[in-house]
Amino acid sequence: MNSRVLAGLISSLISQILILIFLIFPPPNPLSITNPSSFSSSGQIFQQSISPLLRHFLSAADTAAVASLLSISRKRKRAHPTGPDDPDNDDDSNPASRLGPAVSRNPESFSRFFRMKASTFEWLCGLLEPLLDCRDPVGSPLNLAPETRLGIGLFRLATGADYAEISTRFGVSEAVSEFCVRRLCRVLCTNYRFWVGFPTHSELDSVSTRFETLTGLPNCCGVISCTRFNLKRGNNNNSDSIATQIVVDSSSRILSIVAGFRGNKNDLQILKSSTLYEDIENGVILNSERPVIVNGVDVPRYLIGNGEYDLLPWLLLPFVDPQIGSVEENFNNAHRLTYVCWLKANASLRNWGVLNRPIEADYKMGVACIGSCSILHNMLITREDYSAFCDEFDDRILDSNLNVSGSEGGLIGEKASVIRKALATRAKK
Ligand SMILES: *[C@@H]1O[C@H](CO)[C@@H](O)[C@H](O)[C@H]1NC(C)=O
Ligand SMILES: *[C@@H]1O[C@H](CO)[C@@H](O)[C@H](O)[C@H]1NC(C)=O
Ligand SMILES: *[C@@H]1O[C@H](CO)[C@@H](O)[C@H](O)[C@H]1NC(C)=O
Repeated sequence: MNSRVLAGLISSLISQILILIFLIFPPPNPLSITNPSSFSSSGQIFQQSISPLLRHFLSAADTAAVASLLSISRKRKRAHPTGPDDPDNDDDSNPASRLGPAVSRNPESFSRFFRMKASTFEWLCGLLEPLLDCRDPVGSPLNLAPETRLGIGLFRLATGADYAEISTRFGVSEAVSEFCVRRLCRVLCTNYRFWVGFPTHSELDSVSTRFETLTGLPNCCGVISCTRFNLKRGNNNNSDSIATQIVVDSSSRILSIVAGFRGNKNDLQILKSSTLYEDIENGVILNSERPVIVNGVDVPRYLIGNGEYDLLPWLLLPFVDPQIGSVEENFNNAHRLTYVCWLKANASLRNWGVLNRPIEADYKMGVACIGSCSILHNMLITREDYSAFCDEFDDRILDSNLNVSGSEGGLIGEKASVIRKALATRAKK
């Protein structure tokens, strides 16, 4: 188990324990649970775990653990004479509850509005809470519960809704909505960037083992390709795009992401100007002391790419026009299988509404949205929450995305050719 998984587990355990503590020792005044203004004080972390925003979205269909904890807490509260302040009736006092009555009892609400399960939302809130809360504008603190802040930010990323809509739904001003979205993106992209960090040498072993199980090819450490996210700027039709280079593993987890190149650069230019290229060429990442030997050829660790790149010893591309039934064709089929992993990541990122249409933001904020969704994508995979994951794939989409033809035009290194040829004999038929 790697350290990230462990950190995630520990943090979710802690939040579960906090809920339990709260249930065993309820605060002296149960009414304060439903009063959002009381959540901003840091001493009341227990109450945040089951505040109105969550209760509003939770339903019987959500994870058993959270749902059962919640029902216990409701029963407890009903045992008190709460009168008009019954928590089930006073949701209107909470700005976060203004997401519309139509969604409140819908079991799909969490995944529709936040692209995650309620339990993941809760886990994330526990993780980010101290960072979301600080740095309010000087002199005018927002006085919003961390869950509301997170909810606003995630709602924008998940649905792509504009600030006017967010403002209406959450009952806050547009300026506050924008502040919450920026804050969430900033916290994710600066403090949680390591979620999309390239695996260490020892972690790469399990990455390549899983690729080998899938394709038969040993020592494969990722699939690399580029995609472009369009930007919509202001009222004119002056659109632009952000080229994004992504490397994924066989579970479509993002191992490296470089966003921020102008979309008119081609994939090879982007690769060559990325730090990934530099790090690999300098042996900082990917280099392996013990290459795998296939048919007497030393096969170092490598990535698999498509025809828009050059063939390098660490970057293998499919063969052009292989003979039917040949090992080269097997290799190309293996390449197809790995490329599906990449396409699933591409499609999953675009399940985040903000990336699913031209991004309405300036260039810098556009890059921040791409970064944030990528980090969330990896967090969700680690938590086995597939709310935003695209698992279905049509062969036509695969074919329209595969560019085999380019490799003939690219540079084909002698050493790389020998490696690819040896590897082809290992590809599953
Ligand atoms: C990524 O997904 C988008 C949207 O579905 C699609 O247009 C594009 O072709 C996909 N692949 C690449 C390489 O961008
Ligand atoms: C927007 O597009 C229209 C037609 O597509 C064109 O006539 C117009 O000049 C464009 N405006 C700007 C600011 O690019
Ligand atoms: C495939 O790659 C080549 C070389 O980079 C490029 O010229 C061509 O336009 C690409 N084809 C498609 C369909 O993307």
